[in-house]
Amino acid sequence: MTIRPILIHPDPRLKKPCAPVEAVTPEIRALADDMLDTMYDAPGVGLAAPQVGVSVRMFVMDCVKEDGAEPRPMVLINPEITWASDEVSTYEEGCLSIPEQYADVTRPERVRMRWTGLDGTAQEAEFDGLWATCAQHELDHLDGRLFIDHLGPIKRQMITRRMVKLKRERAREG
Ligand code: NI
Repeated sequence: MTIRPILIHPDPRLKKPCAPVEAVTPEIRALADDMLDTMYDAPGVGLAAPQVGVSVRMFVMDCVKEDGAEPRPMVLINPEITWASDEVSTYEEGCLSIPEQYADVTRPERVRMRWTGLDGTAQEAEFDGLWATCAQHELDHLDGRLFIDHLGPIKRQMITRRMVKLKRERAREG
Protein backbone atom coordinates (compact mmCIF):
# COMPACT_ATOMS: atom_id res chain seq x y z
CA MET A 1 0.00 0.00 0.00
CA THR A 2 1.55 3.27 -1.15
CA ILE A 3 0.13 6.63 -0.22
CA ARG A 4 1.36 9.35 -2.55
CA PRO A 5 1.49 13.00 -1.42
CA ILE A 6 -1.45 15.05 -2.75
CA LEU A 7 -0.60 18.43 -4.32
CA ILE A 8 -2.35 21.40 -2.75
CA HIS A 9 -3.70 24.32 -4.81
CA PRO A 10 -2.19 26.67 -5.95
CA ASP A 11 0.30 24.53 -7.88
CA PRO A 12 1.13 24.88 -11.60
CA ARG A 13 0.93 21.08 -11.99
CA LEU A 14 -2.80 21.27 -11.15
CA LYS A 15 -3.40 23.84 -13.92
CA LYS A 16 -1.78 21.89 -16.76
CA PRO A 17 -3.82 19.83 -19.28
CA CYS A 18 -2.73 16.17 -19.02
CA ALA A 19 -1.43 13.93 -21.81
CA PRO A 20 -3.35 10.81 -22.90
CA VAL A 21 -2.18 7.44 -21.54
CA GLU A 22 -0.51 5.72 -24.52
CA ALA A 23 -0.64 2.15 -23.14
CA VAL A 24 -1.72 0.43 -19.93
CA THR A 25 1.77 -0.44 -18.71
CA PRO A 26 2.77 -1.92 -15.31
CA GLU A 27 3.65 1.67 -14.28
CA ILE A 28 0.11 2.81 -15.06
CA ARG A 29 -1.35 -0.13 -13.11
CA ALA A 30 0.92 0.69 -10.13
CA LEU A 31 -0.15 4.34 -10.34
CA ALA A 32 -3.84 3.28 -10.30
CA ASP A 33 -3.24 1.11 -7.18
CA ASP A 34 -1.42 3.95 -5.42
CA MET A 35 -4.11 6.45 -6.37
CA LEU A 36 -6.86 4.22 -4.94
CA ASP A 37 -4.85 3.71 -1.72
CA THR A 38 -4.27 7.47 -1.50
CA MET A 39 -7.95 8.27 -2.16
CA TYR A 40 -9.29 5.81 0.45
CA ASP A 41 -6.67 6.96 2.98
CA ALA A 42 -7.51 10.67 2.57
CA PRO A 43 -10.50 9.81 2.62
CA GLY A 44 -12.09 10.99 -0.60
CA VAL A 45 -14.47 9.77 -3.33
CA GLY A 46 -12.26 10.70 -6.30
CA LEU A 47 -8.63 11.44 -7.20
CA ALA A 48 -7.05 12.45 -10.51
CA ALA A 49 -3.47 11.64 -11.56
CA PRO A 50 -2.31 15.31 -11.68
CA GLN A 51 -3.23 15.58 -7.98
CA VAL A 52 -0.34 13.21 -7.24
CA GLY A 53 1.89 15.06 -9.71
CA VAL A 54 1.51 12.70 -12.70
CA SER A 55 0.25 14.57 -15.78
CA VAL A 56 -1.70 11.77 -17.49
CA ARG A 57 -5.40 11.41 -18.30
CA MET A 58 -6.56 9.02 -15.63
CA PHE A 59 -8.65 9.18 -12.45
CA VAL A 60 -10.04 6.88 -9.78
CA MET A 61 -13.33 7.12 -7.93
CA ASP A 62 -15.58 5.25 -5.51
CA CYS A 63 -18.75 7.06 -4.54
CA VAL A 64 -20.25 4.25 -2.42
CA LYS A 65 -20.98 6.05 0.83
CA GLU A 66 -23.38 3.74 2.72
CA ASP A 67 -21.82 2.25 5.88
CA GLY A 68 -20.87 -1.38 5.40
CA ALA A 69 -21.54 -1.35 1.64
CA GLU A 70 -19.08 -3.07 -0.69
CA PRO A 71 -16.48 -0.63 -2.05
CA ARG A 72 -16.68 -0.05 -5.81
CA PRO A 73 -13.26 1.21 -6.94
CA MET A 74 -13.21 2.47 -10.53
CA VAL A 75 -10.20 3.41 -12.66
CA LEU A 76 -10.91 5.51 -15.77
CA ILE A 77 -8.11 5.94 -18.32
CA ASN A 78 -8.46 8.54 -21.12
CA PRO A 79 -12.08 9.28 -20.12
CA GLU A 80 -14.37 11.41 -22.25
CA ILE A 81 -17.97 12.53 -21.96
CA THR A 82 -20.08 11.20 -24.83
CA TRP A 83 -23.41 12.59 -23.60
CA ALA A 84 -24.63 14.95 -20.89
CA SER A 85 -28.20 15.54 -19.72
CA ASP A 86 -29.87 18.92 -20.17
CA GLU A 87 -31.04 18.64 -16.56
CA VAL A 88 -28.49 20.00 -14.08
CA SER A 89 -27.91 19.39 -10.40
CA THR A 90 -26.09 21.41 -7.77
CA TYR A 91 -23.81 19.68 -5.31
CA GLU A 92 -21.56 21.06 -2.57
CA GLU A 93 -18.15 20.02 -3.87
CA GLY A 94 -14.81 19.72 -2.18
CA CYS A 95 -11.40 18.56 -3.41
CA LEU A 96 -8.46 16.78 -1.81
CA SER A 97 -6.21 19.48 -3.34
CA ILE A 98 -8.29 22.23 -1.68
CA PRO A 99 -8.74 20.80 1.85
CA GLU A 100 -11.73 21.83 3.96
CA GLN A 101 -13.20 24.24 1.39
CA TYR A 102 -16.63 23.52 -0.08
CA ALA A 103 -18.86 25.32 -2.56
CA ASP A 104 -21.95 24.66 -4.65
CA VAL A 105 -21.21 23.73 -8.26
CA THR A 106 -23.90 23.15 -10.91
CA ARG A 107 -23.23 20.48 -13.55
CA PRO A 108 -25.25 18.16 -15.81
CA GLU A 109 -27.21 15.74 -13.63
CA ARG A 110 -26.28 12.68 -15.72
CA VAL A 111 -23.37 11.96 -18.05
CA ARG A 112 -22.30 9.09 -20.25
CA MET A 113 -18.56 8.44 -20.32
CA ARG A 114 -16.26 6.32 -22.42
CA TRP A 115 -12.81 5.29 -21.18
CA THR A 116 -10.15 2.58 -21.24
CA GLY A 117 -10.15 0.13 -18.35
CA LEU A 118 -7.09 -1.20 -16.53
CA ASP A 119 -7.35 -4.34 -18.71
CA GLY A 120 -7.00 -2.15 -21.82
CA THR A 121 -10.59 -2.66 -23.00
CA ALA A 122 -13.05 0.10 -23.98
CA GLN A 123 -15.65 0.82 -21.29
CA GLU A 124 -18.78 2.94 -21.26
CA ALA A 125 -21.28 3.80 -18.53
CA GLU A 126 -23.87 6.35 -17.54
CA PHE A 127 -23.41 8.06 -14.18
CA ASP A 128 -25.93 9.90 -12.04
CA GLY A 129 -26.10 11.41 -8.56
CA LEU A 130 -22.78 11.77 -6.74
CA TRP A 131 -21.10 9.52 -9.36
CA ALA A 132 -21.94 12.03 -12.13
CA THR A 133 -20.71 15.01 -10.09
CA CYS A 134 -17.50 13.20 -9.12
CA ALA A 135 -16.75 11.94 -12.65
CA GLN A 136 -17.11 15.49 -14.08
CA HIS A 137 -15.05 17.01 -11.24
CA GLU A 138 -12.24 14.49 -11.85
CA LEU A 139 -12.37 14.91 -15.64
CA ASP A 140 -11.97 18.68 -15.08
CA HIS A 141 -8.68 17.95 -13.23
CA LEU A 142 -7.31 16.30 -16.40
CA ASP A 143 -7.87 19.59 -18.23
CA GLY A 144 -6.23 21.65 -15.48
CA ARG A 145 -9.56 22.82 -14.09
CA LEU A 146 -10.54 22.86 -10.41
CA PHE A 147 -14.04 23.13 -8.91
CA ILE A 148 -13.24 26.70 -7.81
CA ASP A 149 -12.87 27.61 -11.50
CA HIS A 150 -16.66 27.17 -11.66
CA LEU A 151 -17.14 29.88 -9.00
CA GLY A 152 -17.05 33.66 -9.29
CA PRO A 153 -13.67 35.42 -9.01
CA ILE A 154 -14.22 36.78 -5.49
CA LYS A 155 -15.02 33.38 -3.99
CA ARG A 156 -12.21 31.74 -5.98
CA GLN A 157 -9.63 34.29 -4.79
CA MET A 158 -10.82 33.94 -1.19
CA ILE A 159 -10.34 30.16 -1.25
CA THR A 160 -6.97 30.49 -3.03
CA ARG A 161 -5.73 32.93 -0.38
CA ARG A 162 -6.72 30.42 2.34
CA MET A 163 -4.76 27.70 0.53
CA VAL A 164 -1.66 29.91 0.18
CA LYS A 165 -1.83 30.51 3.95
CA LEU A 166 -2.34 26.79 4.65
CA LYS A 167 0.69 25.87 2.52
CA ARG A 168 2.80 28.51 4.26
CA GLU A 169 1.79 27.12 7.67
CA ARG A 170 2.51 23.53 6.60
CA ALA A 171 5.92 24.54 5.21
CA ARG A 172 6.76 26.26 8.49
CA GLU A 173 5.76 23.17 10.49
CA GLY A 174 8.02 21.17 8.15
NI1 NI B 1 -10.64 17.47 -6.92
